[in-house]
Amino acid sequence: MAEYQINTIDGGITQISVSGSAESKDAELFRALSHLSNKKNCALVNLLELSETSDDLFLHLEDISVRTKIKVIAKKPEFITKCNKIGLQTFPSTKSAALSYAGEETLSLLISRLRDVPILNSEAYRLIQHVSSPDANFPELERMLQNNSGLCSQILRTANSPYFMRASKAETLQQAMVTLGFAPLRQLFIYNFYNSVGNFFGAQKSTIEHGQDCARLAEYIAKSAGAPYSECAKVRLIGLLHDVGRQALAFFFPQQYERVQHMVRVEKKPSFLAELVVFGIEHQKIGSILAHRWNFPDYLSKVIGDHHYLKAKDWNKLSLPVFCANNFLNNRDGEPSSPFYQKLEGYFFLKRAELPWKDIDNEFLEYLEQSQEF
Ligand SMILES: [Fe+2]
Ligand SMILES: [Fe+2]
Repeated sequence: MAEYQINTIDGGITQISVSGSAESKDAELFRALSHLSNKKNCALVNLLELSETSDDLFLHLEDISVRTKIKVIAKKPEFITKCNKIGLQTFPSTKSAALSYAGEETLSLLISRLRDVPILNSEAYRLIQHVSSPDANFPELERMLQNNSGLCSQILRTANSPYFMRASKAETLQQAMVTLGFAPLRQLFIYNFYNSVGNFFGAQKSTIEHGQDCARLAEYIAKSAGAPYSECAKVRLIGLLHDVGRQALAFFFPQQYERVQHMVRVEKKPSFLAELVVFGIEHQKIGSILAHRWNFPDYLSKVIGDHHYLKAKDWNKLSLPVFCANNFLNNRDGEPSSPFYQKLEGYFFLKRAELPWKDIDNEFLEYLEQSQEF
């Protein structure tokens, strides 16, 4: 027979802790679970002290998870496998499970607050949505752009830049757009959209400048390793946007973000770990979700989401230059950072190129000082 205990943990979340051995006819335990699920929208089920159980417990958990958001605390591999099979998330401790609720709450609050902000009404945002849709077409784009002289001239300028090397000058907007194609146009609209996000998130000048430096340096690294133009353009855009989640967190939750900054400054905790403690979620995850919701290309949301951990090896060509640039800048600015020389060597190895620098730190500093254009 299993025993159980119900308590309320910090943050008001209910936890049921099951111990002993749960049998298939453990009616009292199952009744307690059903009762809990009738009353609560979310609950933790702690199985750390459970020695063994029949499958009925998991069937029961699956049933109640239809109406109650359940997170399971378990360390036994067979329990974890069974939970994952029925779509239940598992955590090694009550604290990590509770943090995950906090993270979900942060995310849903952020998304609902984001709905009320004017950035999604911007023209650049509507243009991104159009070029991302299956019925994107040039005549419609031209109609949407007709009153935006700033964007029109950017498109013409880019199409007539040496990289696109047209035989004759693109003179109409339509010619310029055809020369560029949808992917570069989408990048151009994302730059413009990000500018309005940057203006909206306002006061965070240092994060914006960090993004601009990261964009320039990451692109310089990619170019130096012989990456083609299209790859360099992607790296530059990721560099610019990689911390957009941090901007959003700092904007929507300024007081809590002060606590994050305090931990970064005083305890020398990396920002993403401090965010986990305060918000239950990291800026990479927020940034990746925002990039996805805003219909940015997949590579952006994937690499933004992975820019500190580098777990997704198949994105290395894009993520490594950003990782190296970001950590160089954090180190330069006295923020906690990860070592990056090995990753830089790994990137050049991947690109089959020779590292062109003898004194990396000084040469990077020099590059950033001379290249001011953004
Ligand atoms: Fe970051
Ligand atoms: Fe960063």
